[in-house]
Amino acid sequence: MNRITEILGIRYPIIQAPMSWVTSAELVAAVSNAGGMGTLGPNAGQQSAPKDLSEHALRLKQEIVKTRQLTDQPFGLNYFTGPEGSETSPFSEHTLQVALEEKVDILVVVGAVNTAEIRKLKSLGFTVVFRELHPTFSGAQAAEQAGADIIVATGFDEGGSTPEIPLGTMTVVPMIVDAVKIPVMATGGIADKRGVNAAFALGAEGVYLGTRFIASDESPAHSQAKQDILRHGAEDLILVRTGRGGFWRATPHELAQTAKALSDTEINTSFAQLGNLKTAMLDGQLEEGINTVSSGIQFIDAIKPCRAIITELLEDWIKKNGSTANSDRSFVPAAQ
Ligand SMILES: Cc1cc2nc3c(=O)[nH]c(=O)nc-3n(C[C@H](O)[C@H](O)[C@H](O)COP(=O)(O)O)c2cc1C
Repeated sequence: MNRITEILGIRYPIIQAPMSWVTSAELVAAVSNAGGMGTLGPNAGQQSAPKDLSEHALRLKQEIVKTRQLTDQPFGLNYFTGPEGSETSPFSEHTLQVALEEKVDILVVVGAVNTAEIRKLKSLGFTVVFRELHPTFSGAQAAEQAGADIIVATGFDEGGSTPEIPLGTMTVVPMIVDAVKIPVMATGGIADKRGVNAAFALGAEGVYLGTRFIASDESPAHSQAKQDILRHGAEDLILVRTGRGGFWRATPHELAQTAKALSDTEINTSFAQLGNLKTAMLDGQLEEGINTVSSGIQFIDAIKPCRAIITELLEDWIKKNGSTANSDRSFVPAAQ
């Protein structure tokens, strides 16, 4: 038991990170049933993009209902914030409404530090796990002051879109641990027991893993994308600009090879980023899309059930701390 398991009401201090297209009720429930916390990401459980925000909200509601049919354990929902002072985006408004209606009480809030947004989410009664997309010492402190419950510190080694400042996990985790008093979770390239143990040694109280869970039995990622993770190592990966600062770290297929030479502006006019990710990762067309993964693929050599992944990676933590019973969480949203 530690501060993370207590705050989230889970057995082991591990979160399955939100990921566009490659999360689903099945993945989230598998992680939560195994004692971690699953998180529904954008387009969870979907095969196509919604036609509008109402459809996004309806589909999200259905995926939450499905998740609840598969687990009675806590799980989270991805929520995006824009820069300080900006209005809540219509996408986030819809997500928030669904979270309130469906009483999902843990939000994995990702983006820029927006203290007004964090305060609003706290006043509505949510538990806030906050990950600054481009992590900074001062940003972590501002998020803590605004009421965030947990901070996720992201190293450049991560899969998906990387931080703008290329600081590795070994630097970012202790930097954020030094910045705040609330518990910190580490992310970025962690994919085996050594990485997990290192994260705890750096002062993190939990780990937040994306790529390792893509290569799980329950992940909705296409088998081609999963096999691609097994086939490649860290030194094969290439960086493709996202068009928003930062990079997608990608396996070396045709589209990624072409795109790595392009500037942010060229990327913005030539590629629909989410579509490219879906094409490779969900539809399995690796040459026509971007299979974005962390440098931790170096250590992934088998597709496994989430339960096996969690017990294997947390083996030493469990030996030291034992497995703790889940606490009883009940959520009554504050009046809106
Ligand atoms: C395919 C993929 C898609 C992602 N999409 C999102 C997203 O939609 N929202 C988000 O908050 N983070 C997203 N991320 C980032 C992850 O939540 C997490 O920070 C990242 O995977 C770091 O963990 P890793 O190094 O274990 O991959 C994505 C990551 C991957 C690999």
